[in-house]
Amino acid sequence: MPRFRRIKGTQDILPVEAGQWQRIEQTIRDTMLIYNYDELRTPVFEQTELFARSIGQATDIVSKEMYTFLDRGKKSLTLKPEMTAPIVRAYLENNLMSANPVSKLYYIAPLFRQENPQAGRLRQFNQFGAEALGAPAPELDIEVILLALEIYQRLQITNLQLVINTVDNPNARETYKHILKEYVEPNLHKYCRDCQKRILTNPLRILDCKVEECRKLNKNAPRLLDHLSTEGQEHFDRVQSYLSANNIDYSINPYMVRGLDYYTHTVFEITSTQLGSQDAICGGGRYDLLAEQLGGPPTAAVGFASGIERLMMVMAAQNLLEPVQKELDIYLCALGDSASEQITIWLQKLRRLGYRTDRDYQNRSIKAQMRDANRQKARIVLILGENELIKRQFSVKLMQTGVQEYVDFNQLESYIADAMRQN
Ligand code: HAM
Repeated sequence: MPRFRRIKGTQDILPVEAGQWQRIEQTIRDTMLIYNYDELRTPVFEQTELFARSIGQATDIVSKEMYTFLDRGKKSLTLKPEMTAPIVRAYLENNLMSANPVSKLYYIAPLFRQENPQAGRLRQFNQFGAEALGAPAPELDIEVILLALEIYQRLQITNLQLVINTVDNPNARETYKHILKEYVEPNLHKYCRDCQKRILTNPLRILDCKVEECRKLNKNAPRLLDHLSTEGQEHFDRVQSYLSANNIDYSINPYMVRGLDYYTHTVFEITSTQLGSQDAICGGGRYDLLAEQLGGPPTAAVGFASGIERLMMVMAAQNLLEPVQKELDIYLCALGDSASEQITIWLQKLRRLGYRTDRDYQNRSIKAQMRDANRQKARIVLILGENELIKRQFSVKLMQTGVQEYVDFNQLESYIADAMRQN
């Protein structure tokens, strides 16, 4: 038994899986480039206050899931549980608004939430996401939705559902909260404990409580959708009209409010029935007031984030995670110390030429070295023994055809180039 094990809720991404991650990350980067989003990287930890203020004190994330610690200077720091707040912090701190009226930013980053680990719910997980800051236009709402869907399409993921709603502006929400409270209060004792607290701290969250009894009680709850401000209604109508114009299927869940407090107007999730209870691979929405809350100028903004592990679970269920084939171009076998030294030079030379090249490091017999070359699926094997060294040539074996011949050192480069072209 090894002495140390990884922390519960974290994962090692093994070499056999890393190729899939690279492919997904490349698809994300390629798509972001085409939609004209630039990468922004932020530190792994931030002041705790940044998250408390933006995500909201009463949310699950801030009240019970953050990895918060005091550093040696007694400053409270938190491993980032999400990226929107750090992006807005960095946008304000670095004055990105001065370079562009609308900043379109993206990220791929590890995040940390101390949740109860289960399938699709990790304590360290990875998100990619996009944030567009600087305009209230519903055209940007649908751009980020289309961007997320495009990435899934390029990864060939099917059967996803887009669910949207609006949480309007704080005024409309305030009026609606009273209406909702009036509905909930007579039955409050029948709601779960969390909801009994939420009525005081965050009544809207009662609406998307997953507890069966609460769901039943909420069945006829009044809907914010029926109490929208004129501005809120107009924004929501335009988002829907743009989605339809782009032939995007969606449904409205009038009770979806999402678990972060910074949202205004549009909120959305993209879900998969192949994920079980943690069914969202993507969540996002508008957050027009966040920059101001963090001390910046008014900056309307919208974005989304998608969990990469959940995305990979869906891909696995749809048989989209083919193992990435690993093949070596060239394997070098050496017999004897002088040959081994000469091989260090050739190894470097061939690698510089761009061939994926490796060698034996255990001073093994030629038979064992050939076996290793086979195991690593080398296309060409170069063998150097004392005799070959004297004659300044390699014995070269083309593994696919079995052809074996001697090639002079000074002919080797062009011989390999030809052989690689041929098979
Ligand atoms: P979120 O809904 O908290 O939103 O997370 C977005 C996605 O991250 C989820 O749909 C899920 O795929 C993934 N995710 C969240 N928690 C975990 C976990 N413990 N384990 C595995 N995957 C997880 C946000 O984070 C917002 N910042 C999204 C946003 C961007 N809104 C506007 N811009």
